[in-house]
Amino acid sequence: MKSPEFDGHERARWAGRAAAYDRSFARLCAHPAAALLEAAGVDKGHRLLDVGTGTGTVAALACSQGASVLAVDAEPSMLDIAATRLPGGATVLATLPVLPFPARVFDATVGNFVVNHVGNPASAVAEMTRVTRPGGRVALTVWPSPPPLAQRLWGDIFDAAGAERPRGLPRLDPVNDFPRTEEGVADLLGRAGLTEVTCTTVSWTLHVDPDDWWAGPAAGLSTAGLILDHQPPSVVAEVRAAFDEVTAPFRDDRGLLALPASALLGAGLKH
Ligand SMILES: C[S@@+](CC[C@H](N)C(=O)[O-])C[C@H]1O[C@@H](n2cnc3c(N)ncnc32)[C@H](O)[C@@H]1O
Repeated sequence: MKSPEFDGHERARWAGRAAAYDRSFARLCAHPAAALLEAAGVDKGHRLLDVGTGTGTVAALACSQGASVLAVDAEPSMLDIAATRLPGGATVLATLPVLPFPARVFDATVGNFVVNHVGNPASAVAEMTRVTRPGGRVALTVWPSPPPLAQRLWGDIFDAAGAERPRGLPRLDPVNDFPRTEEGVADLLGRAGLTEVTCTTVSWTLHVDPDDWWAGPAAGLSTAGLILDHQPPSVVAEVRAAFDEVTAPFRDDRGLLALPASALLGAGLKH
Protein backbone atom coordinates (compact mmCIF):
# COMPACT_ATOMS: atom_id res chain seq x y z
CA MET A 1 0.00 0.00 0.00
CA LYS A 2 1.51 3.35 -1.08
CA SER A 3 2.05 6.00 1.61
CA PRO A 4 -0.87 8.33 0.66
CA GLU A 5 -3.28 5.37 0.63
CA PHE A 6 -1.91 4.08 3.96
CA ASP A 7 -2.11 7.55 5.55
CA GLY A 8 -5.65 8.06 4.20
CA HIS A 9 -6.67 4.76 5.72
CA GLU A 10 -5.18 5.87 9.07
CA ARG A 11 -7.13 9.17 9.01
CA ALA A 12 -10.37 7.26 8.44
CA ARG A 13 -9.70 4.68 11.17
CA TRP A 14 -8.94 7.25 13.89
CA ALA A 15 -11.73 9.68 12.94
CA GLY A 16 -14.06 10.36 15.88
CA ARG A 17 -12.68 7.43 17.91
CA ALA A 18 -10.74 9.31 20.61
CA ALA A 19 -13.07 8.36 23.48
CA ALA A 20 -12.87 4.65 22.59
CA TYR A 21 -9.09 4.95 22.26
CA ASP A 22 -8.84 6.62 25.64
CA ARG A 23 -10.82 3.82 27.26
CA SER A 24 -8.84 0.99 25.68
CA PHE A 25 -5.51 1.23 23.87
CA ALA A 26 -4.42 4.47 25.59
CA ARG A 27 -3.96 2.36 28.73
CA LEU A 28 -1.59 0.06 26.88
CA CYS A 29 0.32 2.96 25.35
CA ALA A 30 0.65 4.83 28.65
CA HIS A 31 3.25 2.54 30.19
CA PRO A 32 6.43 3.81 28.43
CA ALA A 33 5.52 7.52 28.85
CA ALA A 34 7.96 8.25 31.69
CA ALA A 35 10.78 6.28 30.06
CA LEU A 36 10.16 8.08 26.77
CA LEU A 37 10.47 11.51 28.39
CA GLU A 38 13.62 10.40 30.18
CA ALA A 39 15.13 9.10 26.94
CA ALA A 40 14.35 12.48 25.35
CA GLY A 41 16.13 14.25 28.23
CA VAL A 42 13.00 16.26 29.04
CA ASP A 43 13.49 18.59 32.00
CA LYS A 44 11.66 21.44 33.72
CA GLY A 45 11.33 24.44 31.40
CA HIS A 46 12.19 22.44 28.26
CA ARG A 47 10.17 23.08 25.15
CA LEU A 48 8.72 19.68 24.19
CA LEU A 49 6.89 18.62 21.05
CA ASP A 50 4.72 15.50 21.44
CA VAL A 51 3.67 14.23 18.01
CA GLY A 52 0.70 11.87 17.68
CA THR A 53 -0.25 12.89 21.21
CA GLY A 54 -3.55 11.01 21.11
CA THR A 55 -5.52 11.87 24.23
CA GLY A 56 -2.43 13.51 25.71
CA THR A 57 -0.89 10.92 28.07
CA VAL A 58 2.77 11.79 27.40
CA ALA A 59 2.09 15.52 26.99
CA ALA A 60 0.22 15.67 30.32
CA LEU A 61 3.04 13.87 32.11
CA ALA A 62 5.58 16.31 30.64
CA CYS A 63 3.40 19.26 31.74
CA SER A 64 3.35 17.85 35.27
CA GLN A 65 7.16 17.71 35.13
CA GLY A 66 7.33 21.42 34.29
CA ALA A 67 7.99 21.18 30.54
CA SER A 68 6.43 23.63 28.12
CA VAL A 69 4.46 21.32 25.86
CA LEU A 70 3.08 21.52 22.35
CA ALA A 71 0.94 18.50 21.50
CA VAL A 72 0.23 17.57 17.88
CA ASP A 73 -2.14 15.04 16.39
CA ALA A 74 -3.75 14.40 13.01
CA GLU A 75 -7.14 13.60 14.57
CA PRO A 76 -9.24 16.48 15.98
CA SER A 77 -11.18 14.33 18.47
CA MET A 78 -7.86 13.30 20.06
CA LEU A 79 -6.85 16.93 20.50
CA ASP A 80 -10.22 17.80 22.07
CA ILE A 81 -9.50 15.34 24.89
CA ALA A 82 -5.76 16.11 25.08
CA ALA A 83 -6.47 19.84 25.50
CA THR A 84 -8.43 19.16 28.70
CA ARG A 85 -5.33 17.47 30.19
CA LEU A 86 -2.70 20.07 29.38
CA PRO A 87 -2.66 22.96 31.82
CA GLY A 88 -0.59 25.57 30.04
CA GLY A 89 0.08 23.24 27.10
CA ALA A 90 -1.10 23.91 23.56
CA THR A 91 -2.46 21.60 20.87
CA VAL A 92 -2.02 21.84 17.10
CA LEU A 93 -3.69 19.79 14.38
CA ALA A 94 -0.91 18.52 12.11
CA THR A 95 -0.07 15.36 10.21
CA LEU A 96 3.33 13.72 9.96
CA PRO A 97 5.47 13.82 7.90
CA VAL A 98 4.76 17.58 7.83
CA LEU A 99 5.07 19.59 11.03
CA PRO A 100 4.11 23.27 10.67
CA PHE A 101 7.03 24.57 12.76
CA PRO A 102 10.37 26.18 11.93
CA ALA A 103 13.56 24.13 12.17
CA ARG A 104 15.44 23.68 15.47
CA VAL A 105 12.80 25.12 17.84
CA PHE A 106 12.15 22.29 20.33
CA ASP A 107 14.46 21.03 23.07
CA ALA A 108 13.01 17.56 22.58
CA THR A 109 10.56 15.82 20.26
CA VAL A 110 8.77 12.59 21.19
CA GLY A 111 6.30 10.27 19.49
CA ASN A 112 4.67 7.49 21.53
CA PHE A 113 3.41 4.79 19.11
CA VAL A 114 2.83 7.16 16.21
CA VAL A 115 5.65 6.26 13.81
CA ASN A 116 4.00 2.84 13.40
CA HIS A 117 0.93 4.67 12.04
CA VAL A 118 2.57 6.71 9.26
CA GLY A 119 3.01 5.72 5.64
CA ASN A 120 6.63 6.88 5.51
CA PRO A 121 8.34 6.36 8.89
CA ALA A 122 11.75 7.64 7.70
CA SER A 123 10.21 10.96 6.55
CA ALA A 124 8.33 11.25 9.85
CA VAL A 125 11.50 10.78 11.93
CA ALA A 126 13.42 13.19 9.66
CA GLU A 127 10.73 15.81 10.29
CA MET A 128 10.81 15.23 14.06
CA THR A 129 14.58 15.71 13.85
CA ARG A 130 14.29 18.88 11.75
CA VAL A 131 12.22 20.72 14.36
CA THR A 132 14.53 19.69 17.24
CA ARG A 133 17.38 22.04 18.20
CA PRO A 134 21.02 20.93 18.00
CA GLY A 135 21.84 19.28 21.33
CA GLY A 136 18.20 18.28 21.75
CA ARG A 137 16.87 14.73 21.59
CA VAL A 138 14.29 12.80 19.58
CA ALA A 139 12.67 9.73 21.19
CA LEU A 140 9.96 7.37 20.02
CA THR A 141 8.28 4.05 20.70
CA VAL A 142 6.94 1.46 18.27
CA TRP A 143 5.57 -2.06 18.72
CA PRO A 144 8.05 -4.88 18.14
CA SER A 145 7.63 -7.74 15.68
CA PRO A 146 6.42 -10.29 16.60
CA PRO A 147 3.91 -8.24 18.61
CA PRO A 148 3.49 -8.74 22.35
CA LEU A 149 0.85 -11.13 23.66
CA ALA A 150 -1.54 -8.28 24.53
CA GLN A 151 -1.94 -7.70 20.77
CA ARG A 152 -1.28 -11.24 19.51
CA LEU A 153 -4.22 -12.63 21.50
CA TRP A 154 -6.65 -10.93 19.11
CA GLY A 155 -5.52 -13.34 16.37
CA ASP A 156 -6.25 -16.30 18.66
CA ILE A 157 -9.67 -14.82 19.46
CA PHE A 158 -10.63 -14.43 15.77
CA ASP A 159 -9.36 -17.95 15.03
CA ALA A 160 -11.38 -19.40 17.93
CA ALA A 161 -14.52 -17.66 16.59
CA GLY A 162 -13.78 -18.74 13.00
CA ALA A 163 -13.93 -15.08 11.90
CA GLU A 164 -12.76 -14.50 8.34
CA ARG A 165 -10.14 -11.79 7.79
CA PRO A 166 -11.10 -9.21 5.16
CA ARG A 167 -8.84 -9.19 2.13
CA GLY A 168 -6.36 -6.38 1.65
CA LEU A 169 -5.67 -5.38 5.26
CA PRO A 170 -3.60 -2.18 5.13
CA ARG A 171 0.14 -2.79 4.96
CA LEU A 172 2.99 -0.35 4.70
CA ASP A 173 4.69 -0.23 1.31
CA PRO A 174 7.70 -2.57 1.85
CA VAL A 175 9.93 0.17 0.38
CA ASN A 176 9.06 2.36 3.40
CA ASP A 177 9.01 -0.34 6.06
CA PHE A 178 11.72 -1.00 8.64
CA PRO A 179 12.46 -3.98 10.92
CA ARG A 180 10.51 -3.72 14.16
CA THR A 181 13.59 -4.68 16.18
CA GLU A 182 16.03 -2.74 18.35
CA GLU A 183 18.45 -2.67 15.37
CA GLY A 184 15.72 -1.59 12.97
CA VAL A 185 14.62 1.33 15.14
CA ALA A 186 18.22 2.38 15.80
CA ASP A 187 18.86 2.36 12.05
CA LEU A 188 15.70 4.44 11.40
CA LEU A 189 16.90 7.08 13.90
CA GLY A 190 20.44 7.02 12.52
CA ARG A 191 19.18 7.56 8.96
CA ALA A 192 17.49 10.77 10.18
CA GLY A 193 20.96 12.05 11.12
CA LEU A 194 20.66 11.47 14.88
CA THR A 195 23.75 10.39 16.82
CA GLU A 196 24.30 8.54 20.12
CA VAL A 197 21.34 6.41 19.07
CA THR A 198 19.98 3.82 21.49
CA CYS A 199 17.06 1.41 21.35
CA THR A 200 15.89 -0.84 24.16
CA THR A 201 12.93 -3.14 24.73
CA VAL A 202 10.56 -2.10 27.51
CA SER A 203 8.36 -4.88 28.92
CA TRP A 204 5.42 -4.69 31.31
CA THR A 205 2.09 -6.25 32.21
CA LEU A 206 -1.04 -4.39 31.20
CA HIS A 207 -3.82 -4.60 33.80
CA VAL A 208 -7.09 -3.71 32.14
CA ASP A 209 -10.80 -4.27 32.63
CA PRO A 210 -11.92 -6.84 29.97
CA ASP A 211 -14.78 -4.60 28.81
CA ASP A 212 -12.39 -1.68 28.33
CA TRP A 213 -10.01 -3.89 26.34
CA TRP A 214 -12.88 -5.06 24.16
CA ALA A 215 -14.13 -1.46 23.69
CA GLY A 216 -11.26 -0.45 21.34
CA PRO A 217 -11.78 -3.06 18.60
CA ALA A 218 -15.57 -2.89 19.20
CA ALA A 219 -15.34 0.78 18.17
CA GLY A 220 -13.29 -0.12 15.09
CA LEU A 221 -9.83 0.65 16.47
CA SER A 222 -6.66 -1.19 15.39
CA THR A 223 -6.41 -4.12 12.98
CA ALA A 224 -8.66 -6.09 15.35
CA GLY A 225 -11.31 -3.37 14.99
CA LEU A 226 -11.00 -3.45 11.22
CA ILE A 227 -11.52 -7.21 11.20
CA LEU A 228 -14.44 -6.93 13.61
CA ASP A 229 -16.04 -4.25 11.43
CA HIS A 230 -16.23 -6.76 8.58
CA GLN A 231 -18.14 -9.40 10.57
CA PRO A 232 -21.92 -9.85 10.58
CA PRO A 233 -23.51 -9.29 14.03
CA SER A 234 -23.84 -13.04 14.69
CA VAL A 235 -20.06 -13.48 14.21
CA VAL A 236 -19.33 -10.41 16.37
CA ALA A 237 -21.24 -12.16 19.16
CA GLU A 238 -19.13 -15.28 18.61
CA VAL A 239 -15.95 -13.22 18.68
CA ARG A 240 -17.03 -11.69 21.99
CA ALA A 241 -17.65 -15.19 23.41
CA ALA A 242 -14.21 -16.27 22.13
CA PHE A 243 -12.70 -13.12 23.68
CA ASP A 244 -14.06 -14.15 27.09
CA GLU A 245 -12.81 -17.71 26.66
CA VAL A 246 -9.34 -16.95 25.29
CA THR A 247 -8.64 -14.19 27.82
CA ALA A 248 -9.99 -16.17 30.83
CA PRO A 249 -6.56 -17.58 31.79
CA PHE A 250 -5.21 -14.03 31.96
CA ARG A 251 -7.65 -12.72 34.58
CA ASP A 252 -6.15 -11.70 37.88
CA ASP A 253 -7.89 -11.96 41.25
CA ARG A 254 -9.57 -8.56 40.67
CA GLY A 255 -11.11 -9.80 37.42
CA LEU A 256 -8.77 -7.60 35.36
CA LEU A 257 -6.84 -8.96 32.40
CA ALA A 258 -3.10 -9.14 33.04
CA LEU A 259 -1.53 -9.11 29.57
CA PRO A 260 2.21 -9.16 28.80
CA ALA A 261 3.23 -6.18 26.66
CA SER A 262 6.47 -4.77 25.26
CA ALA A 263 7.66 -1.87 23.13
CA LEU A 264 10.80 -0.67 21.38
CA LEU A 265 12.03 2.64 22.79
CA GLY A 266 14.53 4.48 20.60
CA ALA A 267 16.26 7.82 21.07
CA GLY A 268 19.02 9.91 19.54
CA LEU A 269 20.79 13.25 19.74
CA LYS A 270 20.43 16.05 17.18
CA HIS A 271 23.78 17.63 16.40
C1 LIG B 1 -1.58 4.64 19.11
S1 LIG B 1 -2.07 6.31 19.19
C2 LIG B 1 -0.86 6.94 20.35
C3 LIG B 1 -1.35 8.17 21.04
C4 LIG B 1 -0.48 8.71 22.17
N1 LIG B 1 0.85 9.03 21.73
C5 LIG B 1 -0.48 7.82 23.37
O1 LIG B 1 0.60 7.48 23.83
O2 LIG B 1 -1.56 7.44 23.84
C6 LIG B 1 -1.55 7.00 17.66
C7 LIG B 1 -1.91 8.45 17.50
O3 LIG B 1 -1.21 8.97 16.39
C8 LIG B 1 -2.08 9.77 15.64
N2 LIG B 1 -1.57 9.76 14.27
C9 LIG B 1 -1.62 8.75 13.38
N3 LIG B 1 -1.00 9.11 12.25
C10 LIG B 1 -0.54 10.38 12.45
C11 LIG B 1 0.19 11.30 11.64
N4 LIG B 1 0.56 10.98 10.40
N5 LIG B 1 0.49 12.51 12.15
C12 LIG B 1 0.10 12.84 13.41
N6 LIG B 1 -0.59 12.01 14.21
C13 LIG B 1 -0.90 10.79 13.73
C14 LIG B 1 -3.45 9.15 15.80
O4 LIG B 1 -4.49 10.08 15.50
C15 LIG B 1 -3.39 8.72 17.25
O5 LIG B 1 -3.83 9.75 18.09
